[in-house]
Amino acid sequence: APPAATPPAAVVETAAAPSQDDLKRIAAHRAVELVQSGMVLGLGTGSTAAHALDRIGELIRRGTLRDVVGIPTSKKTEAHATAVGIPLSDLHAHPVVDLSIDGADEVDPSFNLVKGRGGSLLREKMIEGASRRFVVIVDETKMVPRLGGSGLAVPVEVIPFCWGHTLGRLRSLFDGEPGFDAKLRRAATAGDGGNDEPFVTDNGNYIVNLYFENGIHGDLDLISDKILRITGVVEHGMFLGMASSVVIAGKDGVTVVDK
Ligand code: 5RP
Repeated sequence: APPAATPPAAVVETAAAPSQDDLKRIAAHRAVELVQSGMVLGLGTGSTAAHALDRIGELIRRGTLRDVVGIPTSKKTEAHATAVGIPLSDLHAHPVVDLSIDGADEVDPSFNLVKGRGGSLLREKMIEGASRRFVVIVDETKMVPRLGGSGLAVPVEVIPFCWGHTLGRLRSLFDGEPGFDAKLRRAATAGDGGNDEPFVTDNGNYIVNLYFENGIHGDLDLISDKILRITGVVEHGMFLGMASSVVIAGKDGVTVVDK
């Protein structure tokens, strides 16, 4: 009888699982597919949005994208966009933005967001609120059942004058909420390796971080109004009903959900 054929060696898949940064890049690149020549773009802030800036810059340099202008949501993004060759503008010159692309800290099932871990929530909300389409780019870890539930802060931008008083008024809004806390954001804890001085936003303001142990309970629009009615509060990091689409990159692929 002929000798039995030797079975082929097993092929072992060794591809590493994508890192969180890979997923952020994948989400960003998918969103940049929506960018067309001639568009006015809102340019987000953060590590996910940074991948979108790199990609837009690359497409401009290749000549694939022409005549786009970007409106940066922070000084950091302004510097990054300039470095990669994205022409810049502002809301004076372009009061209507065609498409904004930005990351988020949390996304709930209704696409309400918490943003502002990077401290850029005010400019982000102005520019993204002026956009015909606002596409949020996240890795799957950002999806939460309830805003404020991931242990990260919900930031509130406040004017520096008597900030402790404003913090006290914010605290009293959530009196009795189990596990609630409010703290001034310090430069040292803001992720930029700063010192113990207050973190200062691009607008010269401070940030009060609100912490909710079990997430924010209640009517978010009502809570938003109550926060904004406190004199001394400039803006908060809940972006309610603003996202048009969410691009979610996960280990099993990318999902684009339109509202
Ligand atoms: C900055 C933001 C960022 O979009 C948000 O913090 C997400 O950041 P990252 O993409 O680095 O996770 O709102 O103010």
